[in-house]
Amino acid sequence: MRIIEAANYKEMSVKAAQLVIEKVRSSDCMTLGLATGGTPKGLYEELILDHRMNGTSYQCVTTFNLDEYIGLSKDDPNSYYQYMYTNFFSHIDIPLKNTHIPSGQAVDVQAECKRYDSQVKDSGGIDLQILGIGENGHIGFNEPGTSFSSGTHLVELTSSTREANARYFSSFDEVPRQAITMGISGIMKSKEILLLVSGVSKQDAMKKLFEGQVTEKFPASILNEHGNVTVIADTDALKLVKPSR
Ligand code: F6R
Repeated sequence: MRIIEAANYKEMSVKAAQLVIEKVRSSDCMTLGLATGGTPKGLYEELILDHRMNGTSYQCVTTFNLDEYIGLSKDDPNSYYQYMYTNFFSHIDIPLKNTHIPSGQAVDVQAECKRYDSQVKDSGGIDLQILGIGENGHIGFNEPGTSFSSGTHLVELTSSTREANARYFSSFDEVPRQAITMGISGIMKSKEILLLVSGVSKQDAMKKLFEGQVTEKFPASILNEHGNVTVIADTDALKLVKPSR
C-alpha cells in the first residue's frame, strides 16, 4: 500500500482529487467506484470545482456506488442516491444513466444483489474504487466478520455503524438497520483502490490496517493483499501509526 500523508482534511481532499482527475482525463472512458459518508465530500467538492474551472468531463465515466440503505427511496434525503445526486452528480456532466447505486427498495433483495454484481462485471469492472473506512474497519458496509469472498449482499448494520451515521438522521431510531453493500470480493476486483481517511476517530483503524493481521474481524485489512492501493490519510488519522510506515 502506498501511503500519502496530508496535513488535514482539505489537503487529503485536494490530493485525492488530483489523483482522480488525472485518471479521468487520461482515460477515454472509465468506471469509478464511489463511496458516501463524510470523508469523500471534500473530494467531490474539489472534483466539481475542477469540472467548472478546467472542464474535466465525466461524459464517458460510469460509476458504481458501494452501498445503499434498505427501505429508503431515491427521494429520501438520507438515501445514498440523494447524497450522490446532491453532492456530486448534479454538478458535473455525467449522464445519470451512467450512474449506478443498489436499490434500497428492491422487492427481491437477493436478485438485486446479483443484478448489481453482473452490471459491474458487464461494464468491464471498476478501474478506480474510492473507499472510506469505518472506525471498526468496515469498507462499504462490510462489517467485521464479513467473508472476504462475499459479493454484493444484504447486511445488518452494527449499532456502532448506526450510531456513527445517526448524525444525518433526526434520531438514532430512524437510522436503517439494513443495507445492500458491494462485497469484499467485489471491492478487491477493482483495478485500483484509493482509501481516504481523516480525523482522530480513525486512529485505531489506521493502526490496525498498517500494523495488524489480515483478518475478517477487521475487513479493511484485506486491502494489504491488493496490489494497487493508495491511502491518503491526514496527520490526525495517522498519529498512532509507527513512523517507519
Ligand atoms: C459509505 C461507505 C462507508 C463509509 C464509512 C466511513 O459509502 O462505504 O464504508 O466510507 O462508514 O464513513 P465516514 O466517511 O462518514 O467516516
